[in-house]
Amino acid sequence: MGDITVRGGIPLHGKLYVQGSKNAALPILAAAILHDGISVIHNCPHILDVENTVQILLEMGCSVEWHGSSLKIFAGTIQNTEISSEYAAQMRSSVIFLGSLLGRMGNAALPLPGGCTIGKRPIDLHLDSLKRMGARIEEEKEILFAEAQNIHGADIRLRFPSVGTTENIILAAVLAEGTTRIFNAAKEPEIIELCRFLKEKGADIRGEGTACIVIEGVKKLKDSEFVLMSDRIVAGTYLMACMSAGGMISLERAPVCQMAAQFKILESMGAQLQIEKDKIVMSAPERPRALRAVATQPYPGFPTDLQSQLLAVLCRARGKSRIIENIFEDRYQIVPQLKKMGAQIDTAGQEAWITGTQCLHGTEVRACELRGGAALMIAGVGAAGKTTVKDSHFIFRGYEDICGDLRNLGAVIETN
Ligand code: UD1
Repeated sequence: MGDITVRGGIPLHGKLYVQGSKNAALPILAAAILHDGISVIHNCPHILDVENTVQILLEMGCSVEWHGSSLKIFAGTIQNTEISSEYAAQMRSSVIFLGSLLGRMGNAALPLPGGCTIGKRPIDLHLDSLKRMGARIEEEKEILFAEAQNIHGADIRLRFPSVGTTENIILAAVLAEGTTRIFNAAKEPEIIELCRFLKEKGADIRGEGTACIVIEGVKKLKDSEFVLMSDRIVAGTYLMACMSAGGMISLERAPVCQMAAQFKILESMGAQLQIEKDKIVMSAPERPRALRAVATQPYPGFPTDLQSQLLAVLCRARGKSRIIENIFEDRYQIVPQLKKMGAQIDTAGQEAWITGTQCLHGTEVRACELRGGAALMIAGVGAAGKTTVKDSHFIFRGYEDICGDLRNLGAVIETN
């Protein structure tokens, strides 16, 4: 799909079901290869990053079948441990196959990972951690070659609670010899979800969701069926869309326990929220209030993956707002696009200052990464006139049917 055209200025009303979580699905698909039998994952989102990961599994020799939104993976037939650049270059999360391939097969070859262009995104923590567990890793012509006769447990202290590194260590440790302890581990819900999946398969893991995770290596895993949690970033994206356009929406199957930081920000902007078990009803103000300062932080802080969507909303807030991006240094790439729509934003380093205007105006803008692309659609639903988002394929890396979902809420959207 090339372009998405949004006709703005129509308040959103209605109900949506939140899709399965992208950032939980990807490491769980990589984890499935640790077991030489069957893993079934229900509620798996049909998004490009999952399709791409399925291609990696097929390339390795796994058999993979979709049954509706359930994915059945049989990993008893893996022969190939080299991931081709065609798939690895698309997604940074391909790096977590290093841990699972080392754990299961003892070797891996992986082109340097790609993904969103939102900063330098080094992988030194991943490589240093796996080396501490006995892996030898060399880079030759942009390909990482990793090998380990015997992956073993280790004590690993991360200088930053990196989500991907924590996942990679867990994946390498599940079948390793001995005990692995991760200090300053990431506490994101997606880490807890990966551990829940692995524990249902017989892994021995404690402490997930805290800063210290302990993994005792086991000899073998077992077949399992698993229901994947909902996507907190997708839920947040739709709430931000409603804040941009106005109206009242209800989200069902929402991971409300993981969204406290989002709710705080939405309420500060004037949203009225009713939260039930897994349901959110939100009524948006006619125009949001500005926010004095919002900083992105590791969980349970406000997520970097929602920063662009929030930025789009703040462009039409009453007053001046400030955002501090603490995770990725290059996450203001949509600023020139929002400025084309009339936004008043100044950036310097990690900070963005936004002076809200009554209304943005629709024009042609270009997506250059996943969340920034979604944020342009959010700006579009709140703008006067038509906004055309070019290169919209980035958005489908993480959203199953963002156009259909927003149309269900009353938005007028065309695609070609
Ligand atoms: C990050 C987000 C995660 C989000 C994902 C997709 C955080 C903490 N992580 O996870 O919530 O879902 O992007 O957008 O919010 N770093 C290093 N060396 C490494 C690895 C990371 O210096 O080896 C640095 C990165 O440059 C970055 C920070 O650590 O500044 C965050 O990295 P990390 O959590 O590993 O990123 P992702 O796993 O991609």
